[in-house]
Amino acid sequence: MSPETTGPAAVIVLAAGAGTRMKSRTPKILHEIGGRSLVGHALHAARTIRPQELALVVRHERDVVAAHIAALDPGALIVDQDEVPGTGRAVEAALQALDSLNPQGPLGGTVVVTYGDVPLLTGELLAELVATHEADRNAVTVLTAVLADATGYGRILRAADGTVTGIREHKDASDREREIREINSGIYAFDAAVLRDSLARVTTENAQGEMYLTDVLGLARAAGGRVAAVVTEDRWQVEGANDRVQLSALGAEHNRRTVEAWMRAGVTVVDPASTWIDATVTLEEDVRLLPNIQLHGATTVARDAVVGPDTTLTDVHVGAGATVTRTHGSGSTIGANASVGPFTYLRPGTVLGDTGKIGAFYETKNVTIGRGSKLSHLGYAGDAEIGEDTNIGCGNITANYDGEKKHRTIIGSGVRTGSNTVFVAPVQVGDGAYSGAGAIIRRDVPAGALVLSLATQRNDAGWVLKNRPGTISAALAKAAGGTETSSGTPASTEEGLQS
Ligand code: UD1
Ligand code: MG
Repeated sequence: MSPETTGPAAVIVLAAGAGTRMKSRTPKILHEIGGRSLVGHALHAARTIRPQELALVVRHERDVVAAHIAALDPGALIVDQDEVPGTGRAVEAALQALDSLNPQGPLGGTVVVTYGDVPLLTGELLAELVATHEADRNAVTVLTAVLADATGYGRILRAADGTVTGIREHKDASDREREIREINSGIYAFDAAVLRDSLARVTTENAQGEMYLTDVLGLARAAGGRVAAVVTEDRWQVEGANDRVQLSALGAEHNRRTVEAWMRAGVTVVDPASTWIDATVTLEEDVRLLPNIQLHGATTVARDAVVGPDTTLTDVHVGAGATVTRTHGSGSTIGANASVGPFTYLRPGTVLGDTGKIGAFYETKNVTIGRGSKLSHLGYAGDAEIGEDTNIGCGNITANYDGEKKHRTIIGSGVRTGSNTVFVAPVQVGDGAYSGAGAIIRRDVPAGALVLSLATQRNDAGWVLKNRPGTISAALAKAAGGTETSSGTPASTEEGLQS
């Protein structure tokens, strides 16, 4: 036993079912809430109690499901269920696989069974189930809940003194039994030996012709074992996602819990209902989340940062004190006290230095921007490196793609570029260089140089009066003193430097 596996002998997650009510080409347990697949939530809860072994039973869409599980948790054992149907058969298959892997002989101790489609179950509740099971030396401890409508569930049968005597499946239950509102969640802790011996005696003689795992309770009791229940008040933790309506209800509840937990940890959330935070996101104290935002994946937000409103971030790291307003971003890093938005599109590989700025209507991709540099308005920066304290003027773009390959633009520190500068990559601009408005930079610019792309401006006086007679333009030009022959403003070759 390794030091980090101090929990039960095994957790077996049942995931062989078809999930037909989802009406989806995606296997049910691969559907997501809170940024994790349903089975991902089940694995997470299972790992929280540090089992020595973790097995998942698969059958429907076996290869897709197995590949997904292997990617999430390479240490999990994938077990195939054969054509004998039922939860009992699924657990038997897993137990046999675990036993055959164990050099010390059949597994002993506690075996926990959970489902792959019950995403709100927490490791804490599983730990409580195991603790009660082991403290009371039970043969079986089942997790139950009391529901207003128990239709469809297996019902918990109790003796007059309250002792749990068995479980009756809805389809096999009498009208009297169907009035019972205490239901079987399908989550249990078993003594491994009792489970093994009882499963050997479970038959398929029931309304559904399946091997019922639930039959183990009656068999364990008949063999002299203690059978008991842990009743949870929190019905969400035992609720499965069977169709898309339940999926979205579970997703909303998952989010409500996640948002509440972050608020208790010191995060301000102005509008919890429109704030969506994946299970995998990390926030620090005094972060402020404004309405209508979605934080996904490995996103992290550091102290005092403000995110929102109207922002979606996937795998984005937001530095302390930064502000991110009306932004769509992924795979990016925003430095401390930097500012992004409004209306900004950060694509993967964007790294904005501390106190830097990517302003309105900017798209960035694969660009490293040094400390204090600003790309304030209207532009595109891709495959570029920008030094520190550089000011990129309005409407600048990196022309990084020649139709075949992407090329890099390297801009130094302390650079000031005029409006509508175009960097035709590959190209480099040295430290402290300036560019005039409309510069098209095709060749490298040395440090401290001013780069101008000169195109002489010609004012063709009277052109409108001559060529567009009778238009509003002509009328107003005439009223302003324009004539077909007037000389107007003299031609100018001066380039503006304003951004
Ligand atoms: C089962 C329980 C029922 C309980 C309910 C809770 C049995 C006999 N009944 O009923 O008492 O109230 O869950 O939701 O156990 N699975 C397999 N292999 C199979 C069949 C099912 O792995 O052959 C998996 C499914 O993928 C699912 C879980 O087991 O994750 C439950 O299967 P499901 O068909 O939903 O069981 P129910 O009939 O609803
Ligand atoms: Mg079910």
